[in-house]
Amino acid sequence: MLVNVTTLLTEARAGKYAIGAFNTVNLETTRAIIEAAQELSSPVIIQMTEKTFDYAGGRAIFHLVKNIAEFYANDIPVGIHLDHGKSFEAVERAMEIGFTSVMYDGSRKEYADNLMTTKRIVEIAHKQGIVVQAELGNVPYLGEMQMDTIDWEKHMTDPEQAAEFVQETGIDTLAVAIGNAHGFFRERPEPDYERLAAIAKRVSLPLVLHGASDWHNGRVTEVIGRGISCFNVDTALRLAFIGGLREALHAEEETDLRKVMTMAKDHTKAAVKEKILAFGSAHKA
Ligand code: G3H
Ligand code: 13P
Ligand code: ZN
Repeated sequence: MLVNVTTLLTEARAGKYAIGAFNTVNLETTRAIIEAAQELSSPVIIQMTEKTFDYAGGRAIFHLVKNIAEFYANDIPVGIHLDHGKSFEAVERAMEIGFTSVMYDGSRKEYADNLMTTKRIVEIAHKQGIVVQAELGNVPYLGEMQMDTIDWEKHMTDPEQAAEFVQETGIDTLAVAIGNAHGFFRERPEPDYERLAAIAKRVSLPLVLHGASDWHNGRVTEVIGRGISCFNVDTALRLAFIGGLREALHAEEETDLRKVMTMAKDHTKAAVKEKILAFGSAHKA
């Protein structure tokens, strides 16, 4: 069943567990996420980016996910979310399509610009009952830079600034940068746990950690204890999907595309389950 994303995350924060926000690009990934969550009785968030709108069509992918959540997943709470809307127009378009939860990612803009655009989006969104996530500090992308060249300190969320930003903009959830990054890293530096605790002390809304594909259980537990209520996961699902496809294509000459895609779906589902178990949201539906 479709639910409000902030309600999901507020409950998670109170219950000391976290919700997985998984990126989808197609039918198979969506079914993998839903089936994994159903089998573990877990609430779940399914999210899409602008690039996926370009690939699949914004309305097409939104309604695919919405229909699956409404008609095939009445037993679990499902939130649908726009991930990394990079411009006012992109977020506006998602709201027009029907998203009830959106992220405006102005993290690469100057602070004043990020604050002003986020505030403007919140005003419009809240009038329609839509909730807004924003990012402060900046969560880097592995694809764009070498791990050893990242100046982590420069990217991190400032706790005092976070308090001001939340107060000024009225956002519902905040994506933080505490040494996390997008992509699969061979060796990540230790996250700045103290910084996270300092942010959580000043900001009472649910905090979101992007780039959780390769986070091991110990780190997951540490940050949930310090205020993280949501983990964004994309790369781990892409890798699982491609692994499943490879296996299917190498196995034997299979000409039924449904069988090939089912193999990819099942690999992805296993990856989603692993994450749900790590986040502690199993049996919270
Ligand atoms: O955080 C970003 C996600 O990994 C989505 O990437 O823009 O290629 O869909 P994308
Ligand atoms: P990963 O691809 O590192 O899992 O990051 C996902 C993400 O943050 C989506 O917003
Ligand atoms: Zn992200």
